[in-house]
Amino acid sequence: MALNNPSNKPEDDKINNNIKKPRLITSALPYVNNVPHLGNIIGSVLSADVFARYCRIAGYKTLYICGTDEYGTATEIKAREEHVSPKQICDKYHQIHKQVYDWFNISFDYFGRTSTENHTKITQDIFWKLYHNGYIIEEEIEQFYDPEAKIFLADRYIEGTCPHCNYDNARGDQCDKCGKLLNPLDLINPKSKITGVKPILKKTKHLFLDLEKLQPVVEKWVESMHNTWSENTYNIAKSWINIGLKKRSITRDLKWGVPVPLEGFEDKVFYVWFDAPIGYISITADNLDNWKEWWENPNNVNLYQFMGKDNVPFHTVIFPATLMGTNQNWTLARTISATEYLNYEGGKFSKSRGTGVFGTDAINSGIPADVWRYYLLINRPEKSDTDFKWDDFSDKLNNELVANLGNLVNRTVTFLNRYFDGIVPNLNSKKDNQKIEHINDIIPGYKQHISEIEELLEDTKLKEALRKIMEISSLENKYFQDSAPWKLIKQDKSRANTVLCVLANIVKDLGILTYPYLPDTSDKIFDILNIDKKNRTWDNLNEISLANHKINKPKLLFKKIEEKQIEQFKKKFGSKATPADLDIEIGEIIEIKRHPNADKLYVEKVKLGDKIIDLVSGLVPFFKEDELLHRHIMIIRNLKKAKIRGAPSEGMLLAVEAKDENGNPKLELLGEDLPVGTKIAFEGIKQKPKDVITIDELFSLKPHVKNGNLIIGGKLAIANGKYVQTKHIKDGDVY
Ligand code: 2FM
Ligand code: ZN
Repeated sequence: MALNNPSNKPEDDKINNNIKKPRLITSALPYVNNVPHLGNIIGSVLSADVFARYCRIAGYKTLYICGTDEYGTATEIKAREEHVSPKQICDKYHQIHKQVYDWFNISFDYFGRTSTENHTKITQDIFWKLYHNGYIIEEEIEQFYDPEAKIFLADRYIEGTCPHCNYDNARGDQCDKCGKLLNPLDLINPKSKITGVKPILKKTKHLFLDLEKLQPVVEKWVESMHNTWSENTYNIAKSWINIGLKKRSITRDLKWGVPVPLEGFEDKVFYVWFDAPIGYISITADNLDNWKEWWENPNNVNLYQFMGKDNVPFHTVIFPATLMGTNQNWTLARTISATEYLNYEGGKFSKSRGTGVFGTDAINSGIPADVWRYYLLINRPEKSDTDFKWDDFSDKLNNELVANLGNLVNRTVTFLNRYFDGIVPNLNSKKDNQKIEHINDIIPGYKQHISEIEELLEDTKLKEALRKIMEISSLENKYFQDSAPWKLIKQDKSRANTVLCVLANIVKDLGILTYPYLPDTSDKIFDILNIDKKNRTWDNLNEISLANHKINKPKLLFKKIEEKQIEQFKKKFGSKATPADLDIEIGEIIEIKRHPNADKLYVEKVKLGDKIIDLVSGLVPFFKEDELLHRHIMIIRNLKKAKIRGAPSEGMLLAVEAKDENGNPKLELLGEDLPVGTKIAFEGIKQKPKDVITIDELFSLKPHVKNGNLIIGGKLAIANGKYVQTKHIKDGDVY
C-alpha cells in the first residue's frame, strides 16, 4: 500500500510555489452529553477558531469544520437519567453547544453532528473497505452484562472493590484511590453503576481493527511527521508505535450508534471512537458536494487538527490507521495542535461539584466574549497545565486589556479628534518629507516583530503570538508617552503629525492583529477608525495608509472589573483557596495591651522575620498579658487587613481550641517552639501565596489539628522539614 501523504512537509504551504494551499481545520468534536466548560472550549474550538481566522485574513482558502460527537454509552445513559430518548438528548445538547460557541464567536464554516445519514453512510463505507482489505478481525469475548438494564456494560460503568487497595468504589477501568488501571473482571463484588445489580458475564462477538497489520504504514507515516508535529505530539504517537499496535475493538452492544452492516452484527453499533473522527468528513459532506476536494486531496490541502492531549493517540495513530486501511488517498493531519489541561482555581472543573465556569455561565456573566477569549488564549495550556484563577482574570482584564490595549486605542483616537478634527495627519506635510510608506521606516524592528507573530501563528503557538501582539500595544503606549504629542502639537507640529499618523496606523494594525483573538474588539477598532473591514488583511499590516483619512469618535473597548464583582463570581462558581495560597510565618509578641474598646481582645505588636505588624487577637479569656509577652505565635501574614473595633490588624494568629474536662474551652498557641521568621509549608505542594486572602477563604480550608498534627486544606503543615505538632491539644479546630 502506498503511503498516503508524501508531501506533508512544513515548508509545503504552496502549490506550484505561488498559490497558497487551502487549509482544512478541525477541532475535536465535543461530546454532546454535557455543557462544555472553559477547559473544553480552549482545548478545541477556541484554539482552532483563532487559527482559522488568522488563515482567512492571511489569504488562505480556509474550511473550519466541527460538530457534536453524539453516539455512545454516555449519551444512552444520560438519556436514561433524563427519561428521554438519546435523540432528544442530542437535540437538546447540540443546541446548547451551538449557542455557547456562537456566543464565543467561533467562526465554524460548518458546525454539524454525527447522528446523520451521511455519517452512517461514510462510516459504513470506510468499514467495508477495511473489511474487504482484510483489516477486520472477528472474535468472541466475555463481557459484563446488566441483566436488569439489559445492556453490556462499558468498563467504567462497573463498580466494585479494588483488588489492590480495597477501595470499595473503584471503577472497572481504573481505581480512583490507588490510581491502578483495572480490568473489570478483577473487581471484587462488581456492581452495575446503572442499576446497582450484580452484572453477569456473557459471551458476545465483536469486530476488531487489525492495527498490528497496519503498523508498518502507520509507523512510516508517523516518522514522516517527525519534524512537522510538535515534539510531544510526535512522542505520544511514537510511544504507541514503540509498544506495538494491538487489535482494537470497534463495535459495542448498544443501540445508539452507527449500525454495523455485517451479517450477525445487526444488534451492534460501531464504538464511538471509531465513528467520531469520521464525523469530520461526514459533516463536511453534509454541507459541501465537493467534500472530496478537501478530504481526498492530500497534495493540495493542508489539514490542521486542534484537540486536548487525551485525543492525540486517536488522531495520530488510530484514525489515520483507519483511513490508511481503506487504501484510499485521504488528506491526513499535517499539524496536530494539542493542549494540556486548564484547571479551575487549582482543582478540576466539575459540574456535579458545582466548581468551574461552564459555557452557559460565561454567557450569563455580563462579561463580553472577547474578555473570556483573551483570558483563555493568554492562558492557553500550550506546554503545561494552566489555571483559571479569578484574581488573575481580573488582573489581566484590568491591566492588559483596559490599561494597555484599550488605553492605546482610546488615547490615540481621542488625541486625533481633539487636535486634528479626527483627520489622520499626513506624514509628508512638512519636514518629514522623505518617502515613508511603512511603519517600519519610522519604528525599526516593527516589520520583524510582525513576522515573528506570523511565524508563531503558523506554528499554532497561539499564546506566544498573542503576547507579542500585546507587546506592540505596550511599546506604542511607550512611544506615545515618550513622544509627548501634547507638547509637540505646540512646539513642533510636523513631528506631531508624524507621531499621530504612525500611531493611527499602528492602531489599524492592532485592529488586524487582534482579529483572530478578539473579533468584536477588532470590529470596534475598524469602526472607530472608519475603515472598511475588507481591508482587514495580513498584507495591510505595516502599511501607512491612513493619511488624510477621517476617523470616528472614540468608544471604550473594555470596562474594568471591580473587586466586588470578582468576589461575587468566586462565591458563585466555587472558587476554592488552597493551602498554597497562604503566607504563614512565626512571629514574636513584643508589645501587648488590652484593646481600649473590647473586653476580650488584646492589641499586640508582633515581630516577624522582616517587619513588625499590628495584631488584634481574642486571647483575653485564655492568657494574661505577661503570659503572652515574648511568646512565639503562628501568623497568617497575607490575611486581608482589617480594623477590629478601631484597632488595625494586619494578620491573624493561629491557635487550636478544644474543651477541657468541664466542657470549658481551652486553647493552645501553634508554633511556639519555632524561631521567628520560620515559614510554614504544606506536604506535597509548593507555596505560592496570594497577595491577599479573605477570612472566608481561610476557613473554607478547614484548618484543624488531628492526632497532634496541624492540617489546613487537607494538607499536613511543615516547618523546617518537620510536621508542625502540638504539645497538649491533639484534636480540635484551629482559629
Ligand atoms: O474527547 C472528546 O470530547 C471526544 N468527543 C473527541 C472526539 S474528536 C473526533 F475524533 F471526533
Ligand atoms: Zn485501588
